[in-house]
Amino acid sequence: MTQADLVIINGHIVSHETTHKAAIAIRDGKIIAVGEESSMPPAKEVLDATGLHLLPGAIDVHVHFREPGYTHKETWESGTAAAAMGGVTTVFEMPNTNPPTATPEAFADKLTLAEQQAYVDFGIYGLMAEDNVDQLEALAECGVIGFKCFMGNTFGNLPSPSTGAMLEAFERVAPYGLRTSLHAETASIMAWRYERLRAAGRNDALAHVAARPDVVAVEAVSRAAILAEWTGARIHVLHVSSAAELRPMREAKQRGVDITSETCPHYLMMDTRDYATLGSLMRVNPPIRESADSDALWEAVRDGTLDMIATDHAPHTPNEQHNEVIWEADCGFPGVETQMPLMLTAVSEGKITLQEYVRISAVAPAKAWGLYPRKGSLTVGADADIALVDLERQEVIDQETLHSHRARATPFHGWPVKGLPVHTLVRGRFAMRDRTLQSEAKGSGLSVKRVQQMPTAKLVNSDKTLAAEIAKTSVHKEEVTS
Ligand code: NCD
Ligand code: ZN
Repeated sequence: MTQADLVIINGHIVSHETTHKAAIAIRDGKIIAVGEESSMPPAKEVLDATGLHLLPGAIDVHVHFREPGYTHKETWESGTAAAAMGGVTTVFEMPNTNPPTATPEAFADKLTLAEQQAYVDFGIYGLMAEDNVDQLEALAECGVIGFKCFMGNTFGNLPSPSTGAMLEAFERVAPYGLRTSLHAETASIMAWRYERLRAAGRNDALAHVAARPDVVAVEAVSRAAILAEWTGARIHVLHVSSAAELRPMREAKQRGVDITSETCPHYLMMDTRDYATLGSLMRVNPPIRESADSDALWEAVRDGTLDMIATDHAPHTPNEQHNEVIWEADCGFPGVETQMPLMLTAVSEGKITLQEYVRISAVAPAKAWGLYPRKGSLTVGADADIALVDLERQEVIDQETLHSHRARATPFHGWPVKGLPVHTLVRGRFAMRDRTLQSEAKGSGLSVKRVQQMPTAKLVNSDKTLAAEIAKTSVHKEEVTS
């Protein structure tokens, strides 16, 4: 029998369907056997995982690592170190850097930075904005994992596409089958309300919620779903924050739109009552809303309306986060390192099962981006991306120890958690061992583009796209002249 690099014994392997005790053998970064300990091949190293559960490493499809351009907030090194410490083995990184990831050149530069530093595997989003519609095909061809469209203004002030630009953008990316992730908040409603509230003198933390009520998200999700339906483009709704958004989401799914969605721990676990103590530290887009919204989001996680959990990891320095005038505070906070402990705590409280957690943290994102079962599953042939977790281990979240060391103030500081990743394997290699970052793993993360296989696109109205109509120009000119 071929020798394995690593055999893990006595652990419990968790999938979205079952939990069972089994040994697992890894060679050259892949799982080569799962089963009885006695059936495992000889190994260079045997790890006794008694008391631990083996989960597919989490896939966080929404992180902002800030490099290039804002390295005083985060870098690829610190962001992916935080991921490794949080049991996250793949991250998808957002394009609101400086320069934004809006051209193939910007993409290539970011890819180099990521390859040099990453502790975990990654995908890189391309930007879909008002001013780079003509770049989308080139971005798709050079290796973006998908696109990010900021329907509402946010950090970096990238131009939100008009509905017209968005429709053309969807027409252009639909044939590639790639998914477009949407910051679904409508810019014009928010800008209008912001101006009026500010002029009236509202500067308190709750004014942030007042400027972006749930209708802002409802309108954006509904409109995006209509454009996706008309073109056949695949979409993903980022950071769902409200109960009201769930209706257009469910309706779009029923109509057959290829739409997936995520929520984040802060929308599930905090609500408007927390602004009194946390103030601008919990300012994030979209805003954290009422406790009734959190309840509805939990229900939607359980019933599958919400497909996955992501973090919107968005570090800013404490000075940038804190401001008495809410409008002046930067939006967002880190999350990639705390997602798994927080969600495992919810598992221990009975809010979801461990299998449901695996579904939303690994299986669903892998499926939505064409990475399954190579990622998101612990079966023979899959990449050995494994979070070994101790469900009984307790800790208190301490922002001083987080690995986003430039900007790590989090509203979850001081929260007790039960359930922690102890080791993180990325393609069979320890990125974290015994809760300690393995510095030699720096730079071993790879782009997951090489394993992405999106199902073939199902185009709609491809005879009516702008490109199709423009192609008819010469025909019509000839008709007129003859
Ligand atoms: C994000 C950031 O800071 O980049 N901020 C946020 O409040 N969510 C941007 C984003 O995801 O919209
Ligand atoms: Zn966003």
